[in-house]
Amino acid sequence: MSTFPITRLRRLRRTATLRSLVRETKLDLSDLVYPMFVCPGEGVVDPLEGLPGIGRRSVDRLCDEAEELAALGIQAVLLFGIPESKDEVASEAYDADGIVQQALRALRERVPELVLVTDVCLCEYTSHGHCGVVQDGEVLNDLSLELLARTAVSHVEAGAHAVAPSDMMDGRVGAIRAQLDGEGFETTPVIAYSAKFASAFYGPFREVADSAPAFGDRRSYQMDPPNLREAMRECALDIEEGADMIMIKPALPYLDVLAAARMRFDLPIAAYNVSGEYAMVKAAAASGWLDERQAALESLVAIKRAGADLIFTYWARDAAGWL
Ligand code: PBG
Repeated sequence: MSTFPITRLRRLRRTATLRSLVRETKLDLSDLVYPMFVCPGEGVVDPLEGLPGIGRRSVDRLCDEAEELAALGIQAVLLFGIPESKDEVASEAYDADGIVQQALRALRERVPELVLVTDVCLCEYTSHGHCGVVQDGEVLNDLSLELLARTAVSHVEAGAHAVAPSDMMDGRVGAIRAQLDGEGFETTPVIAYSAKFASAFYGPFREVADSAPAFGDRRSYQMDPPNLREAMRECALDIEEGADMIMIKPALPYLDVLAAARMRFDLPIAAYNVSGEYAMVKAAAASGWLDERQAALESLVAIKRAGADLIFTYWARDAAGWL
């Protein structure tokens, strides 16, 4: 291999056109999924501090925004619900008239071209804020599976095109797959939040979704941040249980996990660029410390370079204008 002065890597960096010819990773709007939060009421747009630009919306306002998103070229959204009331067993999560179910029916009618993915979890719906059923201070695994599967089915009945379980109970992908198949929904994909770490970066989300645990934390079910090999086991198990896609979450602090999963598995891999990753850049940009657009696009391309096929990101809407 020749070296300097024969080889000069700067030759291909000289102009914007040359750089674009040799660019190895490209972001496309079709890679991005926009998370949305739906709440009860009418005419409600409730902006929240921790996630600038993102708010809770009632079904009518959610549909208005979804129409705008589709017009901008966004193809898919991820839905979260903030219910009217919460209880011990997350009743509104699997209620045919729950908030997400109402939103799904309305969105299907108003914006039929939009791909609707739902987050399947109990934490927004339980009075204690945990992702499963609690007994004697413990989050019970097997009892939670039934409620999660019921939630997934009710989302699909209401119009979800894909379901994304984010609870981190063992066996939930298999339970959801079996229940969907049993109800005749064998064509509906499951996007598994496979390697979901117990992360400080979910902070702003929990404010928006009002889902912070009332006691303890999520470390008995979400993954321990230092563990990469265990993350591979989580992915492998979800694939065996029938996941159509796996997800790594958060994204930026876990790019090594994403890259390792990319090397090992051939199914599509998603990454979730979570609320804290977004909020950090927003806050720094608001202080004039960095350029939001550049920092956001650099973050998203890094996530893609590390191996993500698709990215769940609060920047999807802005990216529609940037790309
Ligand atoms: C529900 C769920 C959470 C997120 C996605 N689904 C919160 C949590 O696990 O505490 C976080 C998303 C984000 O921070 O943007 N379990």
